[in-house]
Amino acid sequence: MGLPENIFDPRHYAGARQDVRDATTLPPWCYASESFYRREIERIFMKTWCFVGHAGRIPKTGDFACIDYAGAKLILLRDRDGRPRAYANSCRHRGMALLEGEGHCRAIKCGYHGWTFGLDGALVAAPEMSATPGFDAQDWGLKEVRLETFRNLMFVDFSGTAPPLVRHIGDLAEKLAPYDLENQVLVRRTEYDVACNWKVYVENFMDYYHTPTVHRTSLASGDLSVYHRNPPTVERGTGEYMSLYAKHKGTAALLVGATGFPPMPSLSRRAVEGSTFACVFPCALLANTKDCVWHVEIHPRGPDRIRLAVGACFHPETVARPDFQEIVGRYYQRWDVSVKEDNDVNELQQRGVSSPLAEAGRVSPMEALSHTHRNWVLDRVIGR
Ligand code: FES
Ligand SMILES: [Fe+2]
Repeated sequence: MGLPENIFDPRHYAGARQDVRDATTLPPWCYASESFYRREIERIFMKTWCFVGHAGRIPKTGDFACIDYAGAKLILLRDRDGRPRAYANSCRHRGMALLEGEGHCRAIKCGYHGWTFGLDGALVAAPEMSATPGFDAQDWGLKEVRLETFRNLMFVDFSGTAPPLVRHIGDLAEKLAPYDLENQVLVRRTEYDVACNWKVYVENFMDYYHTPTVHRTSLASGDLSVYHRNPPTVERGTGEYMSLYAKHKGTAALLVGATGFPPMPSLSRRAVEGSTFACVFPCALLANTKDCVWHVEIHPRGPDRIRLAVGACFHPETVARPDFQEIVGRYYQRWDVSVKEDNDVNELQQRGVSSPLAEAGRVSPMEALSHTHRNWVLDRVIGR
């Protein structure tokens, strides 16, 4: 009960390491302990590609958005070449946060002493600094964090040394080809503070065991109950991801009984008959159904807190429809309802696992994806 002396002793994780049929969950401290979280930052978030949202959030040159990812404050900004970049949101003079929120700028001027940085990060003005011996503006540009995109989905690599993003995504790119992600239009992005560990959220997203209870009235009846009848299998490929494919009638993006847009024109192969849900490790959640795609950004903020963002994208032909605005509200309603249902249950789970009385539990084979995620985390935090 409570925290053992050495939470990193691999013996504590023997249960979670079993095949899913025999497995237990992670010990509860993995979701609540500050030191476990610190190690995740060090060994996961600072080492591999972190998903920071759709580039449609900063569509034009000079558009920016500030984020806080696992403690790192970043400015996401579209440069003059049209490329999304990521800069540390700290002035190179005395560290002042340079920008807040989101907006548009022609240059980044620090509000403290007026140092000004170009959209390429270069220091272009530093008042009075000519009196400082040996000061060369060229040495004092903004610190840049490596950013690459996969079909407009932005990922950052704080280490600067992770293998290229294309390898991290691997053959998921082919699985998602029918969705024409490159051209999907980001039409809405909503943010939430959720008082839960980042893994609680991922495990919930990849778990369809809870659909008939948590989403009883919103999603569970009708065609989506297919998840319950046919437990999805974990698909792994050449990249750092896991996915599941579920065959169903209609779309996965509307509430029970609602009707929406026809399938997007680019669909082919199995995408015509079902949906693909993917988690690009550690926590990029990508949902792809017949008439739209959506993604979930999880920005870890502490062992028991995340900032969540849900981005919704539609095919350009769908967005061009004269009835787009009239119909899209039904999709928004689906996300608003189901995201709240998940957020609520995730916060309650967090409350329970934070108790010293909580213990690891047994799992059902329907939780194979959550189990896979737990083991991916353990491989990195505890070692294989
Ligand atoms: S801290 Fe930015 S100019 Fe001084
Ligand atoms: Fe859910």
